[in-house]
Amino acid sequence: MTHSTTERGTVVVGLQWGDEGKGKIVNYLAPLHDAIARYNGGANAGHSVVVNGERFALHLIPSGILHKGKPAIIGNGVVVDPQWLLEEIAKLASREVDTSALVLSDRAHVVMPWHKDEDDLRERWLRVASETSSSQPIGTTKRGIGPCYADKHQRSTAIRVIDLLRPDELRAKLASIVPMKNATLGALAAALPEAHRPPTSPAYTIDEVARQCEAWGTQLAPMIADASSRLMDIIDAGGKVLFEGANATLLDVDHGTYPFVTSSTTTALGAPSGTGVPMNAIGKVLGIMKAYSTRVGSGPMPTELIRSESDRALAHQIRERGREYGTTTGRPRRVGWLDLEMVRYSARLNGVTEIAVMLLDVLEGLEELRVCTGYTLDGKPARFNPDATWLARAIPIYTTLRGFIGDVSSARSFAELPANARAYIELIQRHLGAPVRYVSVGPDNAQTIQMP
Ligand code: IMP
Repeated sequence: MTHSTTERGTVVVGLQWGDEGKGKIVNYLAPLHDAIARYNGGANAGHSVVVNGERFALHLIPSGILHKGKPAIIGNGVVVDPQWLLEEIAKLASREVDTSALVLSDRAHVVMPWHKDEDDLRERWLRVASETSSSQPIGTTKRGIGPCYADKHQRSTAIRVIDLLRPDELRAKLASIVPMKNATLGALAAALPEAHRPPTSPAYTIDEVARQCEAWGTQLAPMIADASSRLMDIIDAGGKVLFEGANATLLDVDHGTYPFVTSSTTTALGAPSGTGVPMNAIGKVLGIMKAYSTRVGSGPMPTELIRSESDRALAHQIRERGREYGTTTGRPRRVGWLDLEMVRYSARLNGVTEIAVMLLDVLEGLEELRVCTGYTLDGKPARFNPDATWLARAIPIYTTLRGFIGDVSSARSFAELPANARAYIELIQRHLGAPVRYVSVGPDNAQTIQMP
């Protein structure tokens, strides 16, 4: 079956290091689509969405859930911590959000308790090494994401969602996995220098884990399904799917600032494989970018405002205004000028057809704004390369613009924005060679300017 472009779905993808405000845009576009599907990541992601003045923080559940009755699908490319998912469902239920339309792919992988132990132990090992070498911890969210994806590719040590519904097969798998995990985690913990060792060493029993998995299976059973075929049924009936990316392009395991990345395909390239639909189910790719840069965790960030006292004060001001603290871990986000050259790389890689610029209001009142519009390496102009070593050596070239003053957050049209804010958006559009479709000037849906 073929589809015309107008019938096809939309991918919403972050163009920086995450936290660009994808949740707000997904929530805004959800009514125009027939289903919302997450294709990557796990409880490391955090989408905060404001609906009718109420703020919701979602981690695993697609933000489309806030639209009653619309299928909200957790695709096979997601790694699912069942405990976390059940708690998130309970929290939504306590606020009277109907979660009956939630579908969990039977092929998604399960984040097991040992994945979180391993995440923590690996970061401890990196911290020990950082005392005597230039290596650095990744600064993960410790939600077990990397170890779970590693086991998915390892195969023999992985548990898929469908396994939670097959107690006998599950026990057979656990018979080899549990002793292996106890042995490797025990050894990793025991060999750490004492000061870095966790207070207790993990030791799992097959029985206990099996019982826990069976309980999860019982509770999740009503939502477990072949999500790929559900989505294809929707598409075949002429429906449009909104694909909700988690994390963001520069955190992509292949195309991000490796090794300071997450472990999934965060770009739009991951949407078909992470949900099980053909590529021609996608017609539009909406790239989401903040009007400045933020990053959580380690890794290069060439435009970071950190080098002088005044830069750090400015970063603090932007952080406070933009509420730049992790939705998932509460960590303060690193803040920097907009790296438009990096966003150009992301826009091209994702094949963006349109752009949304978020949090423009946060920059209101700053005297001047700097935007990275190119790089040099060893004194010569150089094309952006996401490689961490390259980025640590590259020097940003800045374009300086005059800041904007005025009530940006109450503007409802492009014409109502101050002239210098319009010039900022025009620079973005010119540099990316893609149309800016939305400009967000505040958390509410009403604070979304649709471009002419
Ligand atoms: P992990 O995904 O927990 O393995 O973390 C790997 C890196 O990705 C760390 O630097 C995290 O801070 C970062 N990261 C993962 N998910 C997000 C996100 O949704 N927003 C921002 N940073 C993230």
